[in-house]
Amino acid sequence: MKKIILILLLLITGCSKEEIKPLKKLGYTDEEISVIETMNNDNITYMENISYNGNYINLINHKDFDENNLKNYISMLDNTNVTIDDIIFTVNHNYYNVNITYDDNTISYMKSNYYIHDNLNKYLEYENKITKTFETNQDKIDYVITSINSKLDNNFYTNTIPTDLSKGYLIIVNKYNYLDSSYVPDNLVTIASQYGKLQVEKTTYEAFIKMYNGAKEVGLNLYAASPYRSYNTQLGLYNNYVNRDGKALADTYSARAGFSEHQTGLAIDIVRRGGSLGEFEYTGEFKWLSQNAHKYGFILRYPKGKEWITGYQYESWHYRYVGVEAATQIYNKNITFEEYYAYYIEKSSN
Ligand code: DAL
Ligand code: ZN
Repeated sequence: MKKIILILLLLITGCSKEEIKPLKKLGYTDEEISVIETMNNDNITYMENISYNGNYINLINHKDFDENNLKNYISMLDNTNVTIDDIIFTVNHNYYNVNITYDDNTISYMKSNYYIHDNLNKYLEYENKITKTFETNQDKIDYVITSINSKLDNNFYTNTIPTDLSKGYLIIVNKYNYLDSSYVPDNLVTIASQYGKLQVEKTTYEAFIKMYNGAKEVGLNLYAASPYRSYNTQLGLYNNYVNRDGKALADTYSARAGFSEHQTGLAIDIVRRGGSLGEFEYTGEFKWLSQNAHKYGFILRYPKGKEWITGYQYESWHYRYVGVEAATQIYNKNITFEEYYAYYIEKSSN
């Protein structure tokens, strides 16, 4: 009899021990366990082997929770003080890295337009360096992001690199990215006299003719006054301007040789037929281009108010062919080619 009771007791205690789930032992309620058990076995096992935290349940219940990211969410929750929302956001965007200090400021950067994760340290360094004041913190963040993405932490013409020619119609030529003195576009064509003069890249020419015809239909006359310019032509022009105005002033409106978009064959200075560069901004032709150039693949390359980014005075006449898709995006987002290039071209190729 005693033996039987003993066996029964052993059985009862043995069974009830088996019934206590590891998660229960850690302190999770049945309800919480049912949340954890919505995940795959690996994740359940993972949670069985770390300590209890009620916030883990909040992570799993978040609408954007992705169970593939469980370990990173948990690591971030354990090692930072940011909210569940921000953890989900950061990890889902692949912005989580144990070496980064996450706080409201870094998270604000990550949530801003045109944020490039590889630039985070540069943003934070630059932010500490600048003395400019801003109305709002977001204004400051936007300014820093634009500056760093556009390389403005370097003075113009410092840290220059040969431009990446593989980008085709999206190559960037500016005060940081240059063309070799020997670079000549391989498909230059001569512009027929009714459209303008000299030479331009073939696809750019075709797009210009379409644009010319579009303008013509509404009674406007475009004229390609200065399209492709060779390295040596630009060298001569720039030197003349320097002799006339001094280097500092010349640099605000003329590119140094190798740094001019005109050498790409993709840029055209457009005027009203018979008109000048100076009057262009007051013409119907300019007004029409402002609203329509992007539809033909052209952008106004040096817009008003963006001089600090492009490095050039406003030029109502300088249009750059980038193709309809890029031109439309640049137009709709009201950004410069510098900003577009950093975020949509350079970043995605890294
Ligand atoms: N005027 C433009 C900036 C050039 O010289 O290419
Ligand atoms: Zn120009």
